[in-house]
This record gives sequence, structure tokens and C-alpha cells, in this order.
Amino acid sequence: MALYVIGDLHLSLTGEKPMDVFGERWANHTQRLREAFAQLTEDDVTVLAGDTSWGMSLEGALEDFRFLDALPGKKLLLKGNHDYWWGTAAKMKHFFAAQGFSTLDVLHNNCFLYGDYAICGTRGWFYEEDAAGTHTGKMVAREALRLEASFRSARQSAPEKELLCFLHYPPIYQGYQCPELLALIDRYRPVRCYYGHLHGATHRRAFEGRRNSTEYALISADYIGFVPKKICD
Ligand SMILES: [Fe+2]
Ligand SMILES: [Fe+2]
Repeated sequence: MALYVIGDLHLSLTGEKPMDVFGERWANHTQRLREAFAQLTEDDVTVLAGDTSWGMSLEGALEDFRFLDALPGKKLLLKGNHDYWWGTAAKMKHFFAAQGFSTLDVLHNNCFLYGDYAICGTRGWFYEEDAAGTHTGKMVAREALRLEASFRSARQSAPEKELLCFLHYPPIYQGYQCPELLALIDRYRPVRCYYGHLHGATHRRAFEGRRNSTEYALISADYIGFVPKKICD
């Protein structure tokens, strides 16, 4: 029994968005994910940190969910900027149940408990979003509220557990910081913060290591070789 994390699977089982256009690094990435997940067991839990499927709707992402559900263990899904299929938690859970998918759940304004840890997270916010120039203050404030709701639910339901923070966007990056989210991380002091979103050449601008009480790590799939990263047993 172990806890894992990986972000940015960018699945497209329908074949509409082949990922090898992004270079050799992405060749056969679906098959490589299947092989890596085959090492996991039914008792394991994996946090999928956003950009999970290219599907434009729940129905459009159906084959990707089917692929995920067939992999061993439970998967906790977090929203990424490319998850256009994302809906309300109730709608997603209803859809998964209707399809008979029993291993998929949603990390959104809530938390999950695993061993000595509480699993918290939200999508987060990144400077690319500011380029659009609209709703910036409102949107980042909403993400901060979601992260705080998640931390709070962990503090209330299991105050003795260490917090783990999962974000899609990096809260800190070379030349960028998201002060609203970093302030929350500094206040609630999760022991680790995992994030994805960065691909290819941007990997080298990732911040990894300790900042205050929290250890940061990039876990986008192409960065970690399409093998889920083990957090703890
Ligand atoms: Fe991505
Ligand atoms: Fe992304």
C-alpha cells in the first residue's frame, strides 16, 4: 500500500491529440504509463495533478477515464488548465458512477486521508493566466479559497495528520511567485508541495527543494519519466 503522484498525463485515447508531436520524450506515453502503473497494486492511491485528459467534455474524455479506471489503485483527480471536461464534483462523481468507474475520485474543496497524511489541493494560478488580463484578482482569490477550504477540511477532520499540498500550477517558478497561494502554504505548512504543468524546456525553471516548512517538487509526467512518484508507503 503506497501513495503516489503524477501530473499531466495528457491522455487522448481517442487519438485526437497525439502527444508525440511534442517530441521524442512523449513517444508511446500512454503505453509507458500503463506499464508503470502495472507495478502498483489495488491498495495504492495516486494523485493525478491535473491536465489528465484532452477530452472537451466528460463524454469526450470517456475512453481516458476507462483507461485510468483499469489501472491499479485509486486515483484522485485534480483540475489542470487543459481539463475542459471538468464539471462540478457532483456531476463528475455521478458520471463516474454511471460508467461503473470505481477507482476515480475528485480532489476539489475537500481532502483525503492517507496514513499519517492529509491530501489537499487545488488547481492554483500561474502567470500565463495573467496574460489574458481578465478576472485575474477574482480567479486567484477563488483558487486561494479552494486551497484554504481543502487545508481547513484536513485540519478539522484530522488535526494530527501532516498536510500534503497538490497543485497543478507551480506556486513558485523562476521569475514568478503566487503570493496568495504561498501565503496559505506558509500558514498551513504542508510538509510537501507537488505541482505539474511545466513541460519540456520549462522544467529547468522549476523550483525544487525546501522553502520555509515545505519541500517542493515538480511531478509533471514528462519530467518524471511517466512513472508515478512514490510519496510514502
Ligand atoms: Fe500539462
Ligand atoms: Fe497545465
